[in-house]
Amino acid sequence: MDINLTLTKKQKLFHDSNAFEVLFGGAAGGGKSYGQIADAYIHALLYPGIKQLMLRRTFPELDRSLIRSSLEMFDCRIANYNQSKHLWRFANGSTIEFGCCDSNAEVTKYQSAEYDIIRLDELTHFTQYQYLYLMSRLRGANNFKKQMKSTSNPGGRGHGWVKERFISMKEPYKEYGEEDRKRVFIPANVKDNDFLMSCDPDYIKRLENLPENDKKALLYGDWEIFKGQVFTEWKNDPEGYLSGVGTHVVTPFEIPRGWRRFRSFDFGYSKPFCVQWWAVDYDGKVYMYRELYGCTEEADTGVKWTPSEIAVKIKGLEKDDPDKILGIADPSIYDRSRGESVAEMMEREGVFFEPADNTRLAGKMQLHYRLAFDEERRPGMYIFASCKGFIRTLPSLCYDDLKCEDVDTKAEDHPYDAARYFLMTHPVASKKCERQKGYMI
Ligand SMILES: Nc1ncnc2c1ncn2[C@@H]1O[C@H](COP(=O)(O)OP(=O)(O)OP(=O)(O)O)[C@@H](O)[C@H]1O
Ligand SMILES: [Mg+2]
Repeated sequence: MDINLTLTKKQKLFHDSNAFEVLFGGAAGGGKSYGQIADAYIHALLYPGIKQLMLRRTFPELDRSLIRSSLEMFDCRIANYNQSKHLWRFANGSTIEFGCCDSNAEVTKYQSAEYDIIRLDELTHFTQYQYLYLMSRLRGANNFKKQMKSTSNPGGRGHGWVKERFISMKEPYKEYGEEDRKRVFIPANVKDNDFLMSCDPDYIKRLENLPENDKKALLYGDWEIFKGQVFTEWKNDPEGYLSGVGTHVVTPFEIPRGWRRFRSFDFGYSKPFCVQWWAVDYDGKVYMYRELYGCTEEADTGVKWTPSEIAVKIKGLEKDDPDKILGIADPSIYDRSRGESVAEMMEREGVFFEPADNTRLAGKMQLHYRLAFDEERRPGMYIFASCKGFIRTLPSLCYDDLKCEDVDTKAEDHPYDAARYFLMTHPVASKKCERQKGYMI
């Protein structure tokens, strides 16, 4: 039978992709959600009996978007919608089920389910744990190709892991990974969507009037900056050190022997632990010169090292450091409620820490003050380009939905926490206050 659908070029690429994981992501209005629902519809018609699941984080979101579009698009002569089960059943035996999954715990409702294709709309609203768990529900004794097909704008609590998985260090349209586990990113641009451009030509003007960061995320689909990003002042441009544009990331150099050195530590086992080494120059500027980030290849997943193993590694890394290094750590490592504390286990290996000041908002402000550039485009802190965990995770941190002044602690915040602990030992006032007092950082 004929179906009356015309896809944009990018929607067609999304439909045609055979990669195991596909992300169609970027600008708002690029036709991502329409592409998702149209692709599900075409699959349901082409492959009789195929089972598809389509998810948003909450049901109201699903109802307003995908379900409504499906009711407009699908032909009721060949498919029937069961409202209480949120299920489309096609005459040829195919099904499309709508679902939501608001928390990590909620994924278990899909425990015994089997699907051929799972589709997530607004992927960055989900955690990586949810995504991987759902991926394990792709199974079935049939020949249908199993796929995870997602659509998303930049931003949201999952921005970091989605960017890491599909975008960072990768070229769009190119497939990465082993055979049968290929991953691909298809960027969405609002100008790809001729339908929107012709029906609502002022749409782009409205996006152009947004504040700069929102504009970058929603109009250009820029994954470097996004709505809700906390540290918008972050600049990773080692060339900018010389050219005067300014940067926080610098090419590693040998730390002069006279600079004082410190080590900060955020403990984790199934979540990553993070150790950072810092040096303070004669002007009080700080440099993160080494990092030990206990994270597997999956973002926000710990390597499960014991405190003793971490301590032994720290000792090894410090053997060539000239001076005594003062350690500062997450105060929870002194907790003895479950027997020997993490701090005690590390002390046995000869690695010592002092408890850090863990005042969250004060620590966050210290990071802002340190990142701020002065008139000569020099910040108060530099990060060696080798400290990859911090460089990857800091720009991805976003604000907490409830405590809207603070960083969302559900995101991958371990390098940020370790940096906070250190910076609270060397507090600075904001540049503006300092000038009033008559001295510079
Ligand atoms: N192939 C198409 N045919 C007809 N209309 C389309 C097509 N693609 C997109 N549209 C329309 O363009 C508008 C924007 O598309 P859509 O909602 O899919 O964008 P989006 O990228 O998901 O946006 P957002 O980022 O806001 O979620 C919608 O009104 C949609 O119906
Ligand atoms: Mg959408």
